[in-house]
Amino acid sequence: MYKLIRPILFLFQPETIHRMILNLLKFCRYIPFCRTLLRICYCPHTKGLERELFGITFKHPVGLAAGFDKNGDMYNDLANFGFSFIEIGSLTPKPQDGNPLPRCFRLPKDKAIINRMGINNKGARYAANRLIAEKPVRCKLAASITKNAATPNETAYKDYEKSLAILYDFVDFFVLNVSCPNVRDLTELQDIPALAELFEHVNTVRRFNDEHKPVLLKVSPDIPLEQLDEIIDLALLSGIEGIVATNTTRSRENLVTDPKVVETIGNGGLSGAPLYEKSLAFVKHIHEKTAGIIPIVACGGIMKPEQALEMLDAGASLIEIYTGFIYNGPAYVKRINRYLAKAYAKRKK
Ligand SMILES: Cc1cc2nc3c(=O)[nH]c(=O)nc-3n(C[C@H](O)[C@H](O)[C@H](O)COP(=O)(O)O)c2cc1C
Repeated sequence: MYKLIRPILFLFQPETIHRMILNLLKFCRYIPFCRTLLRICYCPHTKGLERELFGITFKHPVGLAAGFDKNGDMYNDLANFGFSFIEIGSLTPKPQDGNPLPRCFRLPKDKAIINRMGINNKGARYAANRLIAEKPVRCKLAASITKNAATPNETAYKDYEKSLAILYDFVDFFVLNVSCPNVRDLTELQDIPALAELFEHVNTVRRFNDEHKPVLLKVSPDIPLEQLDEIIDLALLSGIEGIVATNTTRSRENLVTDPKVVETIGNGGLSGAPLYEKSLAFVKHIHEKTAGIIPIVACGGIMKPEQALEMLDAGASLIEIYTGFIYNGPAYVKRINRYLAKAYAKRKK
């Protein structure tokens, strides 16, 4: 069904149709039984797929990656599509507009997206107010936090501290985004001295709060494995609870889209099918290096249920999707879970 509708949706600019769909979902709030109907259609059966990680129970392993619900406006509506957790954001302490339009492009032949949104968001305080207003929360919630584009890297830790403090009581866990390729110099925060300073400040905020909230780190697929190793060691030493692997890539390797088209699009992070092998390699590497001690959230190019299983088999504890949701449609979470349940049942026999 979605395959029939998708060509019509793809006639619109990605950001335009994204806004239209979110507005439609907001409208659905006022239609009687619409939420129930969506949940009947799209929420998966999760028996045997539950898992507990860093003290949180997840109904199943499939979540929505950062960037879809940037301001925490829509997570309860999006939960109707069956996600067990949703990562809102990325959020910065001050609101910011992001990069000039156009800044998001589909590459249908590659089942991919290139975006240079530049972390447009209404700020952590806006999101905190939304979270206070929107109760109960219908799935587990993570907040992805990062620095404002105008903040120099030397004082970036202050931005993370502020957002952490503002959002602390309202989400289940946090993801530190130091890996978005669309904010100048941001990925340099993955250098060990900068990261060590960041972890120290994040831990200080956590110590000031009664409840301990898990913090994960989202890494770029573009860093060398030696740097990834150093990051893993530091994360383990600093008590960071997990790693999200990975963000989008600057690479344009292995694309089938006409190189001239790709060149015209210009800078941005590539997501979707071409990212899969790189993200999978990162997940395998982290799992092997840590002997499975550190939980991994796999993210990047999971376009088929088989790939979700492969990521979990490679050592991921949870998976996140973004581009796969755009290309596969609203039933994708249910499809993945159905496939996982069948695969696990087969293995038990
Ligand atoms: C339009 C768009 C906006 C995104 N915004 C963010 C963001 O704000 N913060 C973040 O950490 N990742 C962001 N991402 C990256 C995704 O969370 C995810 O890491 C990446 O797209 C790879 O997963 P996928 O191949 O399933 O899309 C964005 C991705 C897209 C396509």
